[in-house]
Amino acid sequence: MPRIREDGDLMLQVREVSHSYGKRNWLDRSGARPPVLANISLVIEKGECLGLLGTSGAGKSTLGKIILGLEKPTEGQVLFQGQDMYRASKSAMKGLRRDLQVVFQDCYSAVNPLMTAAQIIGEPLDNYERLSATDQRRVVGELLEQVGLKPEDASKYPHQFSGGQLQRVNIARAIALKPKLIVLDESISSLDMVHQTQILSLLAELRASYGLSYLFITHDIRAAMTICDRIAVMDQGLLVYNGSGNEGIVQSEHPAVRQLVSSILPEHPSDRIPFG
Ligand SMILES: Nc1ncnc2c1ncn2[C@@H]1O[C@H](COP(=O)(O)OP(=O)(O)OP(=O)(O)O)[C@@H](O)[C@H]1O
Ligand SMILES: [Mg+2]
Repeated sequence: MPRIREDGDLMLQVREVSHSYGKRNWLDRSGARPPVLANISLVIEKGECLGLLGTSGAGKSTLGKIILGLEKPTEGQVLFQGQDMYRASKSAMKGLRRDLQVVFQDCYSAVNPLMTAAQIIGEPLDNYERLSATDQRRVVGELLEQVGLKPEDASKYPHQFSGGQLQRVNIARAIALKPKLIVLDESISSLDMVHQTQILSLLAELRASYGLSYLFITHDIRAAMTICDRIAVMDQGLLVYNGSGNEGIVQSEHPAVRQLVSSILPEHPSDRIPFG
């Protein structure tokens, strides 16, 4: 019997969200901008990894920003752990932000080049935990080890890390407060294949140990099929596919989904075995 999903199982609910970006400034006479998101509804369950794919400009990062509480949607609601993110009080919002973290694509621009790894990873701890200096050093050392770096790396500056290592520092910062949901916006795209594979298995391990949920925004359908429980596809601001299991996506008739899938199908139809 399929499991009946209760509302309490839901980490995130996006309800009929539409969005248009406002005018650039008061001199902008371009009129109302066309919607970049139209009537998007989706959920992420506790401990679930949802892959979000789609062509460039489809609206993935915009939806990510709305989910993170950074861009108020023109219409619709975002409920994180049952609370409406855009109606929450300031103190409730502070609590929600703690449970909601993000890792962006460009690991170098995500950090202050003048801060050490210890300061970068320690920033959320400074904001929320106020540990003693000794405890903070210990926690930062443990976080570095969790992401496959060494406690000695704490004193290094961003330019002293490789891209893959610095992205691990960013992941350590994102998990420092043991959040409930991490938005990963193209977080592994700029890494080489070896580092991509390593970070994917790190994300899977962290999910297993903390019961984390992920919104995994990517262009890489293979990576999404590797770590995601469910895949959603956007096209020109619309959600055109949302399903679990790899067979559904392979069989979808939507042109945007077919285009994504064709990038991984063997050329000859007889060699096309459903994934999963
Ligand atoms: N701050 C902004 N102001 C105005 N328009 C924006 C802004 N950010 C994004 N857009 C527009 O919204 C649309 C969706 O952009 P978005 O960045 O969400 O796409 P995306 O799916 O993440 O694309 P990519 O795969 O290239 O990262 C695009 O047409 C983009 O030009
Ligand atoms: Mg984007």
